[in-house]
Amino acid sequence: MVLTQSEAKRGMQTRLVAVWQWARDKVRNARLEVKFILIASLIVLALMFVLGLWTTKSIEKAIMKGAGSVGAAYLQTFVEPLISEEDIRTKSLSPEVKAKLDQLLGDSPLGQHVREIKIWNPDASLFYSTAGRKVDREQVFDELKRALTGEVVVSRTMISKHAYSGEERHAEYIEVYAPLVRDNAGKVVLVGEFYERPDYLLAEIAGAWRSTLMIVLLVSVPMLALLYMIVRSGSRLIDDQHTAIRASLRHALELSNQNRRLRLEAERARQEAGKLNEKILDQIGSDLHDGPIQVLTLVKLRLSDMKPSLGGGDTVAVPVEGIGKLLRLVTVVLDEIRNISSGLVLPELDNISLNETILLAVRRHTDLTGNRVAIKGALDVDPSRGHLNICVYRFIQEALINAHRHAPGNVQQLRYGMRRNRIVIAIADIGSPPKAPALAPQRIRLGKLMQKRRIRAFGGKVRTIRRSNGTLVIVVLPLE
Ligand SMILES: Nc1ncnc2c1ncn2[C@@H]1O[C@H](COP(=O)(O)OP(=O)(O)OP(=O)(O)O)[C@@H](O)[C@H]1O
Ligand SMILES: [Mg+2]
Repeated sequence: MVLTQSEAKRGMQTRLVAVWQWARDKVRNARLEVKFILIASLIVLALMFVLGLWTTKSIEKAIMKGAGSVGAAYLQTFVEPLISEEDIRTKSLSPEVKAKLDQLLGDSPLGQHVREIKIWNPDASLFYSTAGRKVDREQVFDELKRALTGEVVVSRTMISKHAYSGEERHAEYIEVYAPLVRDNAGKVVLVGEFYERPDYLLAEIAGAWRSTLMIVLLVSVPMLALLYMIVRSGSRLIDDQHTAIRASLRHALELSNQNRRLRLEAERARQEAGKLNEKILDQIGSDLHDGPIQVLTLVKLRLSDMKPSLGGGDTVAVPVEGIGKLLRLVTVVLDEIRNISSGLVLPELDNISLNETILLAVRRHTDLTGNRVAIKGALDVDPSRGHLNICVYRFIQEALINAHRHAPGNVQQLRYGMRRNRIVIAIADIGSPPKAPALAPQRIRLGKLMQKRRIRAFGGKVRTIRRSNGTLVIVVLPLE
């Protein structure tokens, strides 16, 4: 398939655009110090180029000016004396003069510099050229006009003014136009043109380029390296700060999540506490109703059964046996109420250690039930932890009572100790397997619920493990 020229051009354009976009994305995503070094290098390159251009232009100007005065002096000193008035009138040079002019361009040191001499008439026709007459008549050009007014004009052969030979144009000679011969009135009648080799000019320009490049490189490379290091350390600092900001943001998010969790937990605990309070009130109410109120009802019945004594008056005759029964009933009521209230408050735990609290709970249980509990363990904890004491006491009391009540014949064991700044207490009953809970709808089961709630309030955890030969209850309580 043959691509048309416009299609090929369009393909090239798309490729260029793709390369440009790729480079732009690369630079945009590059690190700060890489961006800096790229841009700074571009600026230094541009600076190098501008400085080089400026220096070479200045040198070229100076050299051309020098060449102008040398050329004018050369023409006036060596060429002008050779041309006689006769030559001007006949508009041609005698062979002797031509030979002399050719000699001037020969092997002499000056001749090495000067390549050609042309002599122009004011009408832009060539009076004489050492390279042979190539043109007869030209348009009057600007440089010639200026030379005719007495000015020395310097230019280069690659800027076209009149017809040049291929060699003249290619060698890019420096050309100097200067007034050569004036008439008596001072009017310029012949203009000399002088072609000089540009070698020394080109050498100077190349040298200037080289030294400008060297100077700019010598100054800018260390400066760029230093700046690069500064920018790189700044960029690293920014990176470190980014990382720190990200870490603290993550931390803040974690904290906010934790806060939310805690808030939900607190809300749940509050609701649970409300429900539990209701249950406890229920329990106290039913304990009072089923115990003391029943007995007091009995006492009231007995009292109302009492009749006034036969003798009349305000006295009541009560048999001794009746009083004894009443006294027993009142004692039972008092005991029950005392039991209920002793279950609510525990002032004796305030000033004892955790170790003593555990031992006290076990001792009381043994006193009440007659069960012996095998204890093993030791704790060395600061004694001033009244609330923790109550929590531990209630936990042990409930666990032991449960074992006594729900697994009567089992051997009871208690182990405790510290592990990684946490108190661990394990209560087990060993013997027959736990029975399925008896259906007793009138009784609210509060024990384990209360246990869990108390332990959770201290940041701890309870686990009940039902095994084939009994039940194991473990609590882990952090000390902080
Ligand atoms: N050591 C144990 N062995 C066997 N079953 C147990 C044991 N501990 C608890 N249970 C079972 O778990 C149930 C819940 O116990 P929980 O202590 O909450 O209630 P409760 O003892 O019946 O009543 P209370 O509110 O007076 O404590 C018990 O009814 C019982 O069936
Ligand atoms: Mg219980």
